[in-house]
Amino acid sequence: MREVAVEDILGRTPIHLDEEPIRRTIEGKVVLMTGAADSIGSELCRQIAPFQPAAIVGYEIAESPLFAIDREIRQKFPNVPFLAEIGNIQDRRRFEDVLRRRHPSAVYHAAAYKHVPLMETHVFEAIENNVFGTYNVL
Ligand SMILES: NC(=O)c1ccc[n+]([C@@H]2O[C@H](COP(=O)([O-])OP(=O)(O)OC[C@H]3O[C@@H](n4cnc5c(N)ncnc54)[C@H](O)[C@@H]3O)[C@@H](O)[C@H]2O)c1
Repeated sequence: MREVAVEDILGRTPIHLDEEPIRRTIEGKVVLMTGAADSIGSELCRQIAPFQPAAIVGYEIAESPLFAIDREIRQKFPNVPFLAEIGNIQDRRRFEDVLRRRHPSAVYHAAAYKHVPLMETHVFEAIENNVFGTYNVL
């Protein structure tokens, strides 16, 4: 008997990342993550932290999940400052304020609505968030 590894059930050859370009983008730099608290954003924070950024700025609208990832990153990576910023990507002034104060070198954008059937019944909200919100971030 042996432990089952993720690769056993992946169903494809694992992808090996070329870490050098990633390190160049992150190491010693301030990195901002929108949507930092949930699936993609929080996992990116976990994967970015080992590359020793100067800080991770978590820009996120959901307060309790942001609190949770803030605590998790501080516990797991005590040398990486996690700077939690409550904010909405639809609020351009607030986002600009955070950019001005935190000076990120790289921005990773994961803030979005993602549940297609739900958003198909909320078309305007989906466009406001995912299209105009992304436009603000750009
Ligand atoms: N989860 C996946 O497997 C997957 C795969 C490929 C692509 N994606 C894409 O990645 C993006 C994020 O997906 P996810 O699975 O992490 O979604 P999620 O719902 O788990 O996380 C999105 C996060 O963004 C935040 N957010 C939403 N609107 C915001 C706003 N206006 N301002 C600030 N924060 C806001 C939410 O509070 C949440 O924490 C989506 O565009 C999704 O389509 C996800």
